[in-house]
Amino acid sequence: MFATLEQTDVAELHQFRDPATGLRALIALHSTRLGPALGGCRCLPYPDEHTALNDVCRLARGMSYKAALAGLPLGGGKAVIMEPDKPYDRAALYRAFGDAVNRLGGRYITAMDAGTEITDLDQVATRTRHVWGFSGDGMDPSPYTALGVFAALDAGIRHRFQRHGAKGLHIAIQGLGHVGSQLALMLARAGARLTLADLDPRRAQRLADRLNTRWVPADSLYDVACDIFMPCALGGVLNADTIPRLQAGLIVGAANNQLASDDDAQRLRQRDILYTPDYLNNAGGLISLALGHRQEDRSTIRQKVLGIGRTLSQLLDQADQHHLSPAQMADRQAEQRLHDDTGKHAWEAA
Ligand code: NAI
Repeated sequence: MFATLEQTDVAELHQFRDPATGLRALIALHSTRLGPALGGCRCLPYPDEHTALNDVCRLARGMSYKAALAGLPLGGGKAVIMEPDKPYDRAALYRAFGDAVNRLGGRYITAMDAGTEITDLDQVATRTRHVWGFSGDGMDPSPYTALGVFAALDAGIRHRFQRHGAKGLHIAIQGLGHVGSQLALMLARAGARLTLADLDPRRAQRLADRLNTRWVPADSLYDVACDIFMPCALGGVLNADTIPRLQAGLIVGAANNQLASDDDAQRLRQRDILYTPDYLNNAGGLISLALGHRQEDRSTIRQKVLGIGRTLSQLLDQADQHHLSPAQMADRQAEQRLHDDTGKHAWEAA
């Protein structure tokens, strides 16, 4: 366990168990230096504890980096619930999770993530006020996450293909949940040619029918000859097995921790595939929660989220100048902010 904490530089790990509801949850706090650790709660049928531990620690670090790069006064944390393998009372499980979050006294603020719905967070909110993005506060982050990824995509297209907009480009979208499905709608409207895939083939088929576009089984998506690959499902999808199969020139996606390891950024570079850092692209949801919590209006939130495109353009130029991969450049800038408090200052100036 400590090896994983050391590898990901996570400061605290909390374990919660509630036999009455079947709750088994981990909450990792990577850093609270710039503010309380905000990060979603993921609920998945993890095959074992080690996978869950690894996921929560890597995700918590990603949240710290994301908040730092977005200039928000927030730290990074994350929660995972190991989904019970027997039938369970979903509402009771999330209420028990709410009790767990509450015990941390506000040092961790929870939100939505893969496998969690707004209605689940409504249950959490009956037990703690340290939850953002439920029906009661009306702050659904997913549309803003999609908007931010859309802005990042535009910046990526300019840098990679020296052109504006997605019109006519062939884009493969992996994962058609809250974020991926919205991106598919936006990109269809923008005139992109889409190939869709989801682990749930019915979901892929439904959306493809609606948009009059193509879908393929989940594992075939890596082999599709396309211009852009968009990982919007889960992490670790860019790895030694999948990278040689990719035919895209650009990767821009919403999923957290897309690279299975640091080496994969290098693998992508060697194949001349431009990879744009996930935690920069997908910061829209986090920005919307942070600004929404400050009662900012929608247009201010939208503008700040669209700023992700500008931030990515600058980062891609800087990465080129320093002969680094964009992933290395982003990590370098985030770590600098985490250590010198620039994040706080950027927020105060905003
Ligand atoms: P979601 O749970 O609504 O959707 C994920 C979708 O991906 C599901 O339809 C699932 O069936 C599909 N999927 C899973 N594995 C797959 C695979 N190997 N191939 C194809 N499809 C697969 O999740 P959501 O909210 O759309 O988030 C997607 C990703 O974006 C996650 O990694 C999440 O952590 C990240 N993210 C989401 C944010 C949000 O505001 N919802 C904010 C920042 C990051």
